[in-house]
Amino acid sequence: MSTILITGGSGLIGRALSRTLRQNGHEVRHLSRAVLPRHSGDEYPTFRWDYRKKYLDLHALDSLDVLIHLAGENIGTQRWTPGQKERIRSSRVDSAHFLFDTIQQQQITLKTYITASATGWYSDQPEDTPHTESDPPGSGFLAEVCCEWESAADRFEAVSVRTVKVRTGVVLTAAGGMLPELMRLFRYHLGAVPGNGGAWINWIHLDDLCSLYTYLLESEQLSGIFNAVAPEPVTQRECMHLLAQYFRHKILLPYIPSLALYAALGQRARLILKGSRVSSNKVVSSGFSFNHSRFEEALNNLLVAR
Ligand SMILES: NC(=O)c1ccc[n+]([C@@H]2O[C@H](COP(=O)([O-])OP(=O)(O)OC[C@H]3O[C@@H](n4cnc5c(N)ncnc54)[C@H](OP(=O)(O)O)[C@@H]3O)[C@@H](O)[C@H]2O)c1
Repeated sequence: MSTILITGGSGLIGRALSRTLRQNGHEVRHLSRAVLPRHSGDEYPTFRWDYRKKYLDLHALDSLDVLIHLAGENIGTQRWTPGQKERIRSSRVDSAHFLFDTIQQQQITLKTYITASATGWYSDQPEDTPHTESDPPGSGFLAEVCCEWESAADRFEAVSVRTVKVRTGVVLTAAGGMLPELMRLFRYHLGAVPGNGGAWINWIHLDDLCSLYTYLLESEQLSGIFNAVAPEPVTQRECMHLLAQYFRHKILLPYIPSLALYAALGQRARLILKGSRVSSNKVVSSGFSFNHSRFEEALNNLLVAR
């Protein structure tokens, strides 16, 4: 049993992960900008921090074994103005440096540091083979943020803390993120294929992501980078057609020109229009098994079977 502190534990992944970790017998605490839990049923001891003011309630660090850094300004909800880009970067990177400095100053003997990262690390240009963890970073804003985010984690590794970086794809859940957004569009018969439909979606079912974090936390022999993506990614075109089948609507699925998406979403459009395949082989070879490997089956689990 480990004592685990999660930054951003109130978020989409953090809430589900906290439940899984607790079910596995771990003690879970949250580090939050707000003191009170904002979702009913989330009864985790919650400690306040504000990395910009270099404030952290030090009680959060009592007998701490594992720190999981999930906090970060959401990348999908607002236009990427210069100010928003800085919030996206700083909330992941400056916060991680602040966590490291505080842990060092307080002389906490941390066993494990686990940080979220994203498949945005990789080049989003079409490639013949799926990206593996040793591939170099791509270019552009997201790749730059991922580089800085992961470099901040290297400071923990440098002082012999077991460090794990979870390069996460698009998380699939009915509780938030991509799937409910798409379902809303389909309900109004507004399903459409963005661009030429060829961009890859490296998705992962939220339950598998929680199992994967737990597996990486409990497998003390593992460290380094792991892609958190299902073994079978889908293209935007396949995703939209599978959703259309689910709704059994006669949906025309027109293609939306890339220019129109850039006009509507600004630089965020790249999240939808670009995407190359990412491999899950490393974590599978290490012994992890996915419960949801195929997109169609994951959709069925999330939308029909529950
Ligand atoms: N969801 C995905 O599909 C996905 C994919 C790849 C990577 N990831 C990464 O995984 C992590 C967790 O994702 P998520 O979907 O759970 O995110 P989320 O639902 O947006 O929650 C993130 C949490 O971070 C904290 N936070 C938000 N803005 C912040 C800011 N400006 N400064 C400091 N803290 C802030 C909030 O916690 P408090 O309000 O309690 O402080 C929030 O609950 C993120 O770093 C994300 O980039 C997610």
